[in-house]
Amino acid sequence: MSETAQPVTMETIVSLCRRRGFVFPSSEIYGGLGSTYDYGHYGVLMKNNIRSLWFRAMVQERDDIVALDSAIILNPSVWEASGHVEVFADPLVDCRTCKLRFRADKLEDGRCGRKPSKRPGETPDCDLTEARQFNLMFETHVGALRDASSIAYLRPETAQGIFVNFKNVAQLARRKPPFGIAQTGKSFRNEITPGNFLFRVLEFEHMEMEFFVPPADVTQWYEYWIEQRLAWHRGLGLRDENLRVREHSAEERSHYSSATSDIEYLYPIGWQELEGVANRGAYDLTQHTEHSGTKLEWIDPDGNRYTPYVVEPAVSIERIFVALLCDAYHEEVVSDRERVVLRLHPQVAPVKAAILPLVPRDEGMSTRARALYEELRRHYLVEHDDSGQIGRRYRRQDEIGTPWAFTIDDQTLEDETVTVRDRDSLAQERLPIGGVREWLDDALERDWVSPQSR
Ligand code: GAP
Repeated sequence: MSETAQPVTMETIVSLCRRRGFVFPSSEIYGGLGSTYDYGHYGVLMKNNIRSLWFRAMVQERDDIVALDSAIILNPSVWEASGHVEVFADPLVDCRTCKLRFRADKLEDGRCGRKPSKRPGETPDCDLTEARQFNLMFETHVGALRDASSIAYLRPETAQGIFVNFKNVAQLARRKPPFGIAQTGKSFRNEITPGNFLFRVLEFEHMEMEFFVPPADVTQWYEYWIEQRLAWHRGLGLRDENLRVREHSAEERSHYSSATSDIEYLYPIGWQELEGVANRGAYDLTQHTEHSGTKLEWIDPDGNRYTPYVVEPAVSIERIFVALLCDAYHEEVVSDRERVVLRLHPQVAPVKAAILPLVPRDEGMSTRARALYEELRRHYLVEHDDSGQIGRRYRRQDEIGTPWAFTIDDQTLEDETVTVRDRDSLAQERLPIGGVREWLDDALERDWVSPQSR
């Protein structure tokens, strides 16, 4: 644990996610499976929001990036050419005493199986084996035969599906370098010491973009994408003091990289990689050209041929999801009652607004609340809640991060206005019931800065 780690703990976030149905341990009734999770209703909504905000920034609002959705299981030659079969591995040690397995380069994060728990190697009783390389790719078999010839892999990154489609896209997309190909989708890694909730999981949703540039421009684009991606995370509301950029040393870089910078977030477990931006050079297109015999190069209008260099921003929805929840979580006492609130960016929040009839059994209030709900749900994810006291209904929405609540009360029956309550400031104002839709449209487009920023 870093000495500057955030006050909110991972346990608090796990407990909120479980309690409010964001995330459940996967196959829980069978005892679960380490580091795999299932997403409940609010988790799905929040993930969808993160994915579409990424897609909007990467594809919709740009002229130079196109989309792709490649297969998860590719021809195994792809992974031989990319180097993953040979070197996509972590060093592993076993402890002969507690019989557990640890990453040799992350022993400080490991926990021994004995009681009281120790860090592996901490006591003379720890009997660790020599480190050996352990490939992170999940193997499977394609077809009826299960022998060496039928081995295939679940992709550990979406990037290779992009590289092997370079020629298809370059021919049809009417783009010339610099241009990018973006895709989102599941990746799988047999992580040795998974843990820390969603931070390191066996399957995660990658959001990757490969940006193909003339070789002479690669450094400029590498710096450009670090800045762009940092600004995107800030725009989601992550606080500045919890974000930083750290450049990898030469020893730390992946086999394909000539430069990598991590955008790090101050998680409860300390500063850790949120997103990586890598200069992959011509590594991947060259490897696939050599292994497949298909030339993956660019021919400019003068007939000059070259292999574009690649800059890659790569992130998982899971790392963003955890960072957003940690950043947004806040406990406070309001009117002598404890309030747990998720101060999420409204565009990230699973539910955009709640519609609450103050007295549900009052027919006038109930009818108007229903009608407003029916109108808004055609455009936004909103909730109608008429069970329990109004204070408890507000608290339920605060805890899942709903930015606004519209309350239909006595005054609504007189003048057709409603109260809108702001989740963060708790301020209330009145507006005509007929203007709620427009008010919400505007509110969702406004810039948002976390009220927790120092
Ligand atoms: N294509 C390059 C690549 O995959 P990486 O640094 O291995 O590079 C990129 O991964 C991003 O994917 C990380 O910054 C992180 O956001 C996410 N990621 C990697 N492994 C993960 C895991 N086991 N669980 C959740 N997210 C993961």
